[in-house]
Amino acid sequence: MTDSPRALVTGASAGIGLSYARHLARTGHALVLVARRVDRLEAVASELRDAHGIEVEVLAADLGADEGVARVAARIAAEPSVDLLVNNAGFAVRGRVADLDPDELDRMLRVNVLALGRLSHAAMRAMTPRGRGTIVNVASGTVFMQMPGNAGYGASKNYVMAFTRTMQVEARDTGVRVQLLVPGVIATDFHEVAGNDLNRFPPENVMQADDLVVASLRALEMDEPVCIPSLPAIRDWDAYVAAEAALSPKVSRDRIAPRYHGG
Ligand SMILES: NC(=O)c1ccc[n+]([C@@H]2O[C@H](COP(=O)([O-])OP(=O)(O)OC[C@H]3O[C@@H](n4cnc5c(N)ncnc54)[C@H](OP(=O)(O)O)[C@@H]3O)[C@@H](O)[C@H]2O)c1
Repeated sequence: MTDSPRALVTGASAGIGLSYARHLARTGHALVLVARRVDRLEAVASELRDAHGIEVEVLAADLGADEGVARVAARIAAEPSVDLLVNNAGFAVRGRVADLDPDELDRMLRVNVLALGRLSHAAMRAMTPRGRGTIVNVASGTVFMQMPGNAGYGASKNYVMAFTRTMQVEARDTGVRVQLLVPGVIATDFHEVAGNDLNRFPPENVMQADDLVVASLRALEMDEPVCIPSLPAIRDWDAYVAAEAALSPKVSRDRIAPRYHGG
């Protein structure tokens, strides 16, 4: 057994998660790879063991099922310790609210919301007493948009954003770092899985998964807690946070606002 840092990546069988696995392997991390398609995970594991001589555990689990989530949470709580959790697995179901298949919506929320919450809980619980560790939670640029057909997915990623930002506040002074990653459109199978054509996006709006992961890992080195890889100036995010801060003291008072008087 090595004493290299160990990263657990969910959704490591494809796309962004696969790119994290490859980048982290290159920098000497031992890996725990999580997804449902075990054949793909085994192929990635043997590629990375051969290329980098690292330890790779394959943990096949369906994060849409309680049993799968529980096994991954148990691995996070176990030894050898997980130093970096990348909560990346997720997918989108599209459709206007009136037309959605509500069972599909539930299935998506189980992965994007419930599993991410449980795995974040497991990691915070394991890392806080150690006074170190890193968690990356993958949201989406759609948190800032209200696109018809995207209510469920957009809301699931708003959950990721809200949950993670509060985790960041709670993690202050614990030694645990928490990154909120906000990808825009990334060239992966995600779009096909969601029934969309990636080609409908102008090429200048589409980023490669490797570039996204480079930015995320660089943001960790820079201690930048919110990584929006294509955002030229972080002050735009700061302005968003400032607008929230200006609103928040006004939303809970003992009287209704004057515009609701009379009528
Ligand atoms: N691509 C984009 O434009 C984009 C933009 C913003 C945010 N994101 C977010 O980025 C994350 C990764 O997406 P991607 O673009 O890399 O998509 P992807 O290429 O389709 O990969 C999705 C990964 O999630 C795993 N996954 C899906 N359902 C799962 C389940 N029930 N249990 C376990 N693993 C599951 C898949 O593995 P198996 O199928 O093998 O289980 C796969 O490894 C997602 O959270 C997505 O919402 C993507």
